[in-house]
Amino acid sequence: MTQLLISKALDQYSEQYTSDEMPVLAALNRETNMKIPMPVMLSGHLQGALLQMISHMIKPKNVLEIGTYTGYSAICLAQGLQNGGHLHTIDINEELEDICFHYFCKAGLEGKISQHIGNASEIIPALDATFDLVFIDADKQNYHRYYDLVIDKVPTGGYILADNVLYDGEVVLPEEEQSKNARAIHAFNEKVRQDKRVEHVLLPVRDGIMLMRKIAAD
Ligand SMILES: C[S@@+](CC[C@H](N)C(=O)[O-])C[C@H]1O[C@@H](n2cnc3c(N)ncnc32)[C@H](O)[C@@H]1O
Repeated sequence: MTQLLISKALDQYSEQYTSDEMPVLAALNRETNMKIPMPVMLSGHLQGALLQMISHMIKPKNVLEIGTYTGYSAICLAQGLQNGGHLHTIDINEELEDICFHYFCKAGLEGKISQHIGNASEIIPALDATFDLVFIDADKQNYHRYYDLVIDKVPTGGYILADNVLYDGEVVLPEEEQSKNARAIHAFNEKVRQDKRVEHVLLPVRDGIMLMRKIAAD
């Protein structure tokens, strides 16, 4: 997963001409790579800077993230929160709760981020809020479900982002050569394409980000 879609040299050049990674994010990136299984899941410098920029552009009141991992993207997405704004982030892996909280505190965000531990399919329906920005980045088989669960919690004019929508380039392989996850992601992309409630752009950044704006309630 998340092989580079552009050459290593162009990726490095893109990072070089992107604002420096905040020290707290650089430290979290390092610690995740040293101590946590599957560090490839972390958004990283370039994608993190994009998430941060999008958050600043939207100035969200409430953000929902599905898939916290070690909290890197949550810290990025929280940067553009309005005064009094809040970010809810969900992860099923309770072992990651402490490292996330440690870095949320280091980033001065402990009062602005709520961590929910458990299955996102059960937690999302229980959240009594609307979200002007949602980031879907958990188990790929359930992207379609998360989309269905959040779409009515996003007001018209709100945004949904989904990560890994090119799934390491597998989405363009013949179906019989795709992994189960790649097939699920392709089905998700098709679902978004057919949903007239959103306009969308697939950005080929890192592993592909689907950027959706809700334009109609039904
Ligand atoms: C790709 S990582 C998230 C990376 C993070 N957003 C970042 O950019 O740094 C996916 C996360 O989804 C979590 N996850 C998987 N299945 C889940 C589920 N059913 N409910 C909630 N979280 C889940 C995993 O534990 C993992 O930490």
